[in-house]
Amino acid sequence: MSQSIDYSERIPNNVDLAGDRRLQRALEAWQPAFLNWWAEMGPTLDTSDVYLRTAVAVGREGWAHFDHVALPEYRWGVFLSERDEERKIAFGDGKGQPVWQQVPGEYRAELQRLIVIQGDTEPASVEQQRRLGLTAPSLYDLRNLFQVNVEEGRHLWAMVYLLQAYFGREGRDEADALLIRNSGSEDSPRILGAFNEETPDWLSFFMFTYFTDRDGKYQLGTLKESAFDPLSRTCEFMLKEEAHHMFVGTTGIDRVVKRSTELMREHQTEEIAPHGGIALNVIQKYINFHFSVSLDLFGSETSTNAANYFTAGLKGRWQETRRKDDHLLSDDHSEIEAMVDGQVSSQEVPSLLALNHDLRTEYVADCQSGVKRWNKVLEDAGLEARLFLPHVGFNRHVGLFSSSKISPSGEVLTDDQWAARESSWLPTPEDKTHVQSLMQPVYERGKIANWIAPPNQGINGQPFEYEYVHLA
Ligand SMILES: [Fe+2]
Ligand SMILES: [Fe+2]
Repeated sequence: MSQSIDYSERIPNNVDLAGDRRLQRALEAWQPAFLNWWAEMGPTLDTSDVYLRTAVAVGREGWAHFDHVALPEYRWGVFLSERDEERKIAFGDGKGQPVWQQVPGEYRAELQRLIVIQGDTEPASVEQQRRLGLTAPSLYDLRNLFQVNVEEGRHLWAMVYLLQAYFGREGRDEADALLIRNSGSEDSPRILGAFNEETPDWLSFFMFTYFTDRDGKYQLGTLKESAFDPLSRTCEFMLKEEAHHMFVGTTGIDRVVKRSTELMREHQTEEIAPHGGIALNVIQKYINFHFSVSLDLFGSETSTNAANYFTAGLKGRWQETRRKDDHLLSDDHSEIEAMVDGQVSSQEVPSLLALNHDLRTEYVADCQSGVKRWNKVLEDAGLEARLFLPHVGFNRHVGLFSSSKISPSGEVLTDDQWAARESSWLPTPEDKTHVQSLMQPVYERGKIANWIAPPNQGINGQPFEYEYVHLA
């Protein structure tokens, strides 16, 4: 196992693929199907090349190389973080024992399922974003979109590697099925609801990379703790790539907010839609929507599945090894928010059952950091308005709040009260149509659309004016 990646192979890798002919053949057989899928379901805009980063090593220093690459020639490959020979299981019944290098027979079905669900989200997001290139606000943004897309494609490779290397015949079938399901398909949709929604405009894209990709970060964080070491190492490297996706979302929303404040000042009004901007209340509605659908991805607040995964060592908590408890949780209790007698109140449950809630709580705290940044932009512009995250019970379709109507500030509402106010909290067809109307492509070097501010910095030390993409 080496830190550097072998690019002389047909499939770049640091898992010594050349030393495992059976696996190499399986992956080489899957490769053309992947390229077909990319051609049919990947970005629709024709480009000749894009300034992309490619992983060249998995170590801490200098892991990425930047160059102009034709998208279909991106070197998708299999990269795992370095193996820690001393690594022990950090939690659950097997705590303290050496981690597994093979899949234990008793957990085979569960591990395969976890990998398939994670794997399914990766190509789904590429499919959801496939038309965004047609309306990019700048070449810089266009490049970031494609960077996210090729890396989600690589994350699919990461999961397919695990399926083919460790799950035999069934794993190979699942790898094929990952290319057959499609986002929004009637007959064979993607597994999770949020991944069958469209990402119709760039505000949605930034919200998606901020809120939904961040859910992915937290799910990967739990799998990184897994006792199944190849899964842990795979996810550890994926998290490194994922950081850029978070950055695209965070700074994308920064720049929309900034531009909105400029237009508000220039025109002395909050109603900036006629001036080609996105009003703050519309940004707030998009936050409300994307935050709430992303919370649904954490599953129900209490879950026996999550408890079983933890006890078995399959899935840990966020930063499990830094937690200061016994990592077994057999007698611990946690407070969760729930509906009790028609009121939002806290409830005590065994900690093992509350693991989804625990992960979601970490996620919400992380989401809050972006809101703080965006509010700093508002404050610096001398405005009093502030953005916020809605209550965790708002607009939920999964879990303990799913049968209640809760306002963004946490009030319990009747169906009629909800219906009367829903349009002030969630994007309306008019809001969406207006945002859509702003999505006119700007492909000229150094130019940017009117509804968003340019970034503070370019990519890899290049200026904003750099030719990040050459169109076909
Ligand atoms: Fe991903
Ligand atoms: Fe991502």
